[in-house]
Amino acid sequence: MKSIAIIVAGYGNVGKAFIRLVHRKHAEVENTYGLDLRISGISTGSHGCLGMKDGFNLQDLVSGVFSADRFPNSVSYQNTLEMIAKSKADVFIENTPVNYETGQPAVSFLTSALENGMHIVTANKGPVVHAFEKLTTLANKMGKKFLFESTVMDGAPIFSVIREALPAMQINGFEGILNSCTNLILCRMEKGESFEQAVHYAQSIGIAETDPSGDVDGWDAAVKVAALSTVLLHNPVIPQQIKRSGIRSITEADMHKAHETGKRWKLICTAERTTSGWVLSVAPQMIGPKSPFFSVEGTSSYILFKSDVLPGLGILESNPSPDTTAYGMLADILNIYSHEKDV
Ligand SMILES: NC(=O)c1ccc[n+]([C@@H]2O[C@H](COP(=O)([O-])OP(=O)(O)OC[C@H]3O[C@@H](n4cnc5c(N)ncnc54)[C@H](OP(=O)(O)O)[C@@H]3O)[C@@H](O)[C@H]2O)c1
Repeated sequence: MKSIAIIVAGYGNVGKAFIRLVHRKHAEVENTYGLDLRISGISTGSHGCLGMKDGFNLQDLVSGVFSADRFPNSVSYQNTLEMIAKSKADVFIENTPVNYETGQPAVSFLTSALENGMHIVTANKGPVVHAFEKLTTLANKMGKKFLFESTVMDGAPIFSVIREALPAMQINGFEGILNSCTNLILCRMEKGESFEQAVHYAQSIGIAETDPSGDVDGWDAAVKVAALSTVLLHNPVIPQQIKRSGIRSITEADMHKAHETGKRWKLICTAERTTSGWVLSVAPQMIGPKSPFFSVEGTSSYILFKSDVLPGLGILESNPSPDTTAYGMLADILNIYSHEKDV
């Protein structure tokens, strides 16, 4: 049995779901993969950073509040960087909030984790668009892996399918519904809710943030297009370079118009190879019933790749949640160690 010490930065929706999943799958992972996954450190922004040399009791972690009082044998760290430097962990899991403009502080955390000899796995799109090349180069130099499957479409395998299962495929473009929040809002508006009512509903179930602008103005969709472009199209861009319009401008009259013509509004992400380079955009479009996007409901997402060998390859993810995001990160860890065995 190989013991794997994991430290986790960010203990919010995704961080907690990840710990729950490690707890639920612990015995299965031991039996099937011969790996004893231990959580040996957790850091937050304002609720402390704790380490436990031989790993926290997972049942205690999932069933209570995260505080130093509950774990008297834990060590306290000043911050995430100190946890990374002192923990001697094998894997660093990064789930801190996305920074669309710079990718920080996640980029610094991931860099430090690689320098300290850890594999790195993140659900945060910021470092993928702002530091993909730098982190990939450093990971290769250190003989470690940098994986980020959960950054686009949560647990659905997008990066690994394209990068590992489809060699020598030339991608000519993709179209996708990649932002759950705006798709849910548009579906609610079709049923007669105002934009404000639909945003309020999305906030009430934890899909939209208090400030919903990252979703409704198309930033989240744009950062996902940037991540896909950077990694899969070998065309590094930041979200600010993508032609972007969100869904604020869609009126009740626009909704009626779509309804009358048997169409639906969707926020569509597009990448198209042209003779003058890649054209990348995020914009609302009226979609007819023959489109595969027509039936994508609520928080679900869908991406359709066009390539020289597979003219249309679609991947649908229904009803994502922090639990599906957590699965993407667990899959990344298991893939790292499965591949190590193959070498
Ligand atoms: N939610 C999803 O379903 C989903 C899906 C795909 C990807 N993601 C990505 O996953 C990441 C986390 O999302 P979430 O929904 O879990 O966010 P969240 O609920 O807001 O949690 C963020 C966590 O990060 C902590 N944090 C903030 N600054 C930190 C720092 N400097 N060092 C260590 N921890 C820090 C926060 O601690 P405090 O509360 O103490 O500030 C909190 O525990 C984001 O990058 C998001 O884009 C989320």
